[in-house]
This record gives sequence, structure tokens and C-alpha cells, in this order.
Amino acid sequence: MKNTILITGGTGFIGSHTAVELMQSGWRVIVLDNLCNSEPDVIERIAAIGASRPHFVAGDVRDAALLDQLFASHTITAVMHFAGLKSVGESWQQAAHYLDNNVGGTACLVAAMERAGVRRLVFSSSATVYGEPDTVPIAESAPLRTTNPYGRSKLLCEDMLRQLQAADPRWQVALLRYFNPVGAHASALIGEKPTGVPNNLMPYITQVAAGAHPYLRVFGNDYPTIDGTGVRDYIHVVDLAQGHLAALHYLLEEGRGITANLGTGSGVSVLQLVAAFTQATGVTIPLQILERRPGDVASCFAATEQAWEALRWRAQLSLQAMCADAWRWECSRAAAGASHG
Ligand code: NAD
Ligand code: UD1
Repeated sequence: MKNTILITGGTGFIGSHTAVELMQSGWRVIVLDNLCNSEPDVIERIAAIGASRPHFVAGDVRDAALLDQLFASHTITAVMHFAGLKSVGESWQQAAHYLDNNVGGTACLVAAMERAGVRRLVFSSSATVYGEPDTVPIAESAPLRTTNPYGRSKLLCEDMLRQLQAADPRWQVALLRYFNPVGAHASALIGEKPTGVPNNLMPYITQVAAGAHPYLRVFGNDYPTIDGTGVRDYIHVVDLAQGHLAALHYLLEEGRGITANLGTGSGVSVLQLVAAFTQATGVTIPLQILERRPGDVASCFAATEQAWEALRWRAQLSLQAMCADAWRWECSRAAAGASHG
């Protein structure tokens, strides 16, 4: 039996898929989540897929006493820190809350890890730290800049974690910059739970397909891209989850930290994603072209060499699989009576 990984935010979208992959590779998993954006039944769903049940602790990463108790009562090999708030729009309305939760939460967690002598951390960063990129594909060495309080909170966490490693080489931190995670587990037992009307493209497409909205609003068709619509690097959440295992192995084997993009390296436009969705599911998506969305960039996709050369990881699953799995998940939610805010 391998040892234990603490997953903060483990009932959320990416954390739950990573818990499944870890357990299927023989790791014990403890999930810590305050359930501010997820449901406790995700634990049973993870168990149904993963063949064993993660140990669940309902609590907040800002609760230092709880963290001390957790580290004292389990031998933890590494922490994967997903717990965070992720809505760009909300981060403008609640900037202080985003700082407290995302930056304060990370500071509280690393302080507890330091007290416990657990210094291996895999951190959920984002391509948002590249802001408006000068060139694509975006390499990890690209300038870091952000355009909103959410992005700033991620960059502040990255800075803190870089500083920590520079000050004390016993710290090993993987800063993983996700591009656009989509899809769901093929079992349709776990997936993304958007709150209210989704801002992100894929959950909006699946909701249009389910009849919750009359059409997809395409934000701009005059970008300098293949068809004028915004280009992104969509990555299947199961591939992303496996990237975390690759990062964990890197920390364990190399004994030092790493910064890596987790993307496919392929840029896909809004219209291309819609076409792939229709091809994968047979469902047509009505469109309405609107103005550009403020803050959007034309094109954003990853350079993937670093992830391959250092982590020996690359995304495997196709755009078709992302669409089919997102749709299967949407249908299973609809069957279970989920509402569409
Ligand atoms: P999610 O909201 O589905 O999951 C985050 C989980 O963290 C939720 O279950 C929530 O209840 C929990 N949480 C939040 N604050 C907490 C706190 N203070 N204490 C304990 N639990 C807390 O989001 P996700 O899509 O799974 O994202 C996971 C991480 O990846 C986040 O840090 C996010 O910023 C980052 N990220 C996500 C995306 C994306 O598109 N989904 C892209 C880049 C980076
Ligand atoms: C958004 C966030 C980013 C975050 C990422 C993943 C903004 C400005 N950026 O990025 O910080 O890291 O999500 O959570 O919110 N689109 C439509 N119609 C829609 C929705 C989206 O046309 O209803 C278009 C967008 O204009 C964009 C593409 O689809 O070109 C992807 O949008 P989205 O899924 O929101 O992701 P990002 O813009 O990459």
C-alpha cells in the first residue's frame, strides 16, 4: 500500500477526478473540502468509480487547528491543493474574499505543512497567469501578468510558493498551469457543477443542448483567428487529473519542484468546439454572434514540451471524447433533476 495524499478541494471538479486517478493507482486519499462549491455525495461517487472510499473531512483550508490535527493523525506524503474560488466575474465583486480564500488559504496550508514537515505540494495554477500572451503557444517562461483579481490571486500564490522553495530547498512544489479543463469522467458519476448560468463555454454548450438556453452566445467573431472566434486549449479533465500523478511522481523521484503547463497544445475555436460537439453527440447548437466579452484574449494555447520532457505526460483524450463525456454528464445531471440556475 502506498502512502496518503491530502487533496484540498477534493469534492470539486478537478479534485474529484484526481482523487479517482490516485486511488486507482494505489494511493490512499484524504479529501478536505468546505463544500462551498461542491456536494458531499461526490465522495460516494468517487468510491463508486475508484473501488475505495476516500477519507472525507468537511473543513476549510484556513482552519489552522484542523490542518494541524489532520497532519498529526495521518502520514501524508504530499498535498494537492485544489481548494479555491475560480470565477473571474465574482472575483471583481468579491476581491477581498478571493484574496482571503485563495491566497490566505494557501498561506495557511503551507504554514501547517511546514509545522508538520510535509513539504511536497502540487498547486492548481492557471493559464490566467499569462494574461494576454505575446505569442502562442505559450511557454512556461512567458511573462506573467494578470487581468483580474482571480488571476492575481493565482499569481500571488505562485509567487509565495516560488519564494518558499527559494528560501528552503526542502520544499518541492509543482505549479501546474491548467488551460481549459472540460469533460467529465466516462462513468458520468462525477463532473463539473456550474453555479447559476455558466460563464465557461463547454458547460454553456451542454446546457443549450439540454434546452436550458435557446442558443449559444458567441462572444466575438472578429478575432485574428481561423474563423474569427476565440481560440482556447480545451483539455479533458481525466487527462488533467493524470497530469497530477505525473507531477507527484516527478516530485518524489527528482526531489525538486517544477512549473508546467497542462494543456493539449492544440488551439480550438468556439465554432470548432461547437462542430465537434455536434459531431460527437448529434445535437445541433443554435448560435447568436455577440460582441467580444471584455477581458477575453483572441488565442491561448499551451506549449507542451516541458510537461512531456520533465513529467513524461501528455494529453491523450480527443475533442470528441471531451464533448461526449461533457454531454453524458449533463444528461445524467438532468436525469437526477439538477436545475440550471
Ligand atoms: P471547483 O470549484 O469545482 O473545486 C474547488 C473546490 O474547493 C470546491 O469543492 C470548493 O468547495 C472547495 N473550496 C474552495 N475554497 C475552499 C476552502 N477555503 N477550504 C476548503 N475547500 C474549499 O473548481 P475546480 O474547477 O475543480 O478548480 C480547482 C482548482 O483549479 C481551483 O483552485 C481553480 O482556481 C483551479 N483552476 C481551475 C480551472 C477551471 O477551468 N476549472 C482552470 C484553471 C485553474
Ligand atoms: C475563462 C476565464 C479564465 C479562466 C478560464 C477557465 C474570463 C475572462 N476568463 O477563460 O480566467 O481561467 O475561464 O475557468 O472569464 N465563449 C463564448 N460564449 C460563452 C462562453 C465563452 O463565445 O457563452 C467563448 C469565449 O469568448 C472564449 C471561449 O469561448 O473565446 C472560451 O471561454 P471560457 O470557457 O470562458 O474560457 P476562457 O475565456 O479561456
